[in-house]
Amino acid sequence: MYSLLAGLDLAMPALLAIFAWTGGTKAFRLAYTGSAGQLARRSRKLYSWAVYSSLAALIGSAAIILLAVSHAPVFWIDRLTLHVPFELGTAAAIWLVAVPRLRRLRQAARAADGALPHTLRAEAAAPGIVIPFHAAALGGLAGLFYALVPPVPVRTLPVIVPVLIYVLALGALYVRHVRRWRQICEADVLVRRQPWSRFVRFIITVSIVGAIAAAGIWAGLENSKLPARISMTAGEMDWGGGAEPGADAAGLEEPAHHAVTVHTAHQGHVAESAVNDGESEGAIALASGSSAGGDAVISVSELTGPQQAEADRTFTLTAERQDVKLATGETVKGAWTFNGQLPGPELRMREGELIEVKLVNRDLEEGVTIHWHGLDVPNAEDGVAGVTQNAVMPGQSYTYRFIAEQTGTFWYHSHQDSQEAVSKGLFGPLVVEPADKGNGESEKDAVQKTGDSDIIVMSHVWDGVGFAVGDSTGVQQRTVTPGTEVRLRLINTQDWVRQKYTLIGAPFRVAAIDGTDVNEPELLNDKHIELTTGGRMDLVFKMPDTPVFLAVGQGSKLGIAMSPDGQNVVPGKLPKEKTSAFNPIHYGKAAATSFNADRKFDREFTMVLDNKLGFYNGTLNQLYTINGKVFPDTPMYMVREGDLVRTTIVNRGSVDHPMHLHGHHVLVLSRNGVKSDGSPWWSDTLDVLPGDTYEIAFVADNPGLWMDHCHNLTHAVTGMSMHLMYEGITSPYEVGSDTLNHPE
Ligand code: C2O
Ligand code: CU
Repeated sequence: MYSLLAGLDLAMPALLAIFAWTGGTKAFRLAYTGSAGQLARRSRKLYSWAVYSSLAALIGSAAIILLAVSHAPVFWIDRLTLHVPFELGTAAAIWLVAVPRLRRLRQAARAADGALPHTLRAEAAAPGIVIPFHAAALGGLAGLFYALVPPVPVRTLPVIVPVLIYVLALGALYVRHVRRWRQICEADVLVRRQPWSRFVRFIITVSIVGAIAAAGIWAGLENSKLPARISMTAGEMDWGGGAEPGADAAGLEEPAHHAVTVHTAHQGHVAESAVNDGESEGAIALASGSSAGGDAVISVSELTGPQQAEADRTFTLTAERQDVKLATGETVKGAWTFNGQLPGPELRMREGELIEVKLVNRDLEEGVTIHWHGLDVPNAEDGVAGVTQNAVMPGQSYTYRFIAEQTGTFWYHSHQDSQEAVSKGLFGPLVVEPADKGNGESEKDAVQKTGDSDIIVMSHVWDGVGFAVGDSTGVQQRTVTPGTEVRLRLINTQDWVRQKYTLIGAPFRVAAIDGTDVNEPELLNDKHIELTTGGRMDLVFKMPDTPVFLAVGQGSKLGIAMSPDGQNVVPGKLPKEKTSAFNPIHYGKAAATSFNADRKFDREFTMVLDNKLGFYNGTLNQLYTINGKVFPDTPMYMVREGDLVRTTIVNRGSVDHPMHLHGHHVLVLSRNGVKSDGSPWWSDTLDVLPGDTYEIAFVADNPGLWMDHCHNLTHAVTGMSMHLMYEGITSPYEVGSDTLNHPE
């Protein structure tokens, strides 16, 4: 519904502009008609353009009013106050000013006969006829502009500038039409400029307007170029209404956009210098002993996992470029791989184990890191280039050490050039099994690999090959003894795809969401799963005597066929019964959590997701914004260790955004005002659909500097990224073209 209404709010002003401008052009030509009869006919035809224009304005405004009755103000307040007046107001002017004149003109023209009397010609040229059409066309353009570049949250310039341009343009048109009208009135025969002269004037006007627009675009492109070095600790701090460091923590100025700080911190001492990118304003003065918003100073590089103890399990992942042959025979050329595999090797471990992973970069000049998506590891182990470490370049290696504290289904991926790296293959599944499997196995027992009853279903599109589950582009077949409990671990890694999974042949439960068990999940048989990019769900079912099929995507060409005898049984067509998408909001049974919606929150943030046309790093692009901005202008949410934080996430835009906060799991409190009252719904990758409002909360219990971004990595790479920052944390790492770090 929201998408439809917002779509109308985009399409209708465009139509208004086209219809009203067409009307305006026809109104302009009235004065050059040959005969009175023709003038009468033409003025009548103009009514239709008045009707078309006002229909567009009416439908557009009605959509906004429907939004206003069904949604919170953040979705429509700008639309109501800016789009509606521009569209409806100017369309009304056509009826109030132009149409009465047209009617009189038509009557007079019908009364006259034969050649057009000069007085009538002068009346036909009256500015009152043509100007309202042009005003409405420009009004449509203004509405369209505001829809494409929403000035939300409200800022003065983005609201005012279009109004000024509108007034200027309308003024120019007015002057022009009045002059023409006077000329026609004063002359006693019709003199019209030669076609070539009209053409030259047209070209001149277009060139002037074009030159102004081009200058504006050029300035925008230049201004948007990212500084060569950006410290992730420089950003606009948002304290969420909670406690801030005392004003006497002297000397901390808000960093100017292009200024860049470099601070290297050791406990109790900050060495810092400021670097400019050449043309920008002031550097930052940091008083000794202060950091990004606090007094005590800890560098992210100190927030490591256990360094000394002996690891319970070690892995080595070697990043290298490879052509990889899939199980189904296709070759993925020039893939970026871990250990030459697509996807990377499955990492299985047991809860409580100390894990050591050695990352070696053999030959990827782009650099590599490993981020443990969904595992809340200590900050220095989080694997984000330029935030928690430097990118690992060819010939280098890096060791991650952390305790696997959560159980469930996760994945790992490079967080250097993450959009390209994930798309090309630098990722793999990660599973943490519970410490106690209840079968007497000792803690150090080898964990089980993906098999016939514990199946990893990782869906991805391989370059040049297409959709696949793991390394297979077809149906994989498994033999499963009836009665076995089967766990399907769904992991969607494909950028900007909400993947669909349908289980046919057995009722199932959603046992876990984003690596967290669901409390007492009910049996489902008329649901399918839609999984956002980066999200995971575990489906569990008891194998019946008959075959079961997990369809991945729309048809039955891709998936997992399970049968007692190993026969490859795939339904030719998916059964007709309609399934609806699984929705966790009331699923499972409520259980106690360490906090709930009624608690007092130490900080409250609002995150408004949207899209707009804009400049990013020297390009003109469709941007996906957080609070109207893209990185590095996006806010930095500031917290103190121990804070209970609530965030309201609103998606005003036209596409979905899977929001992923590193290092923490968030509890969904409500969606669109509906309380989440089933099993506690913990998420690390929350899919926020257009028109959705989520209230989420988390405990700030993992100090550091954490990325918080959209996991449609295509969005993140053009700036849909921000971070969560603990008071008193500094980072010695930087991103930008002068560094090797490009986290997105
Ligand atoms: Cu899976 Cu910041 O990413
Ligand atoms: Cu997004």
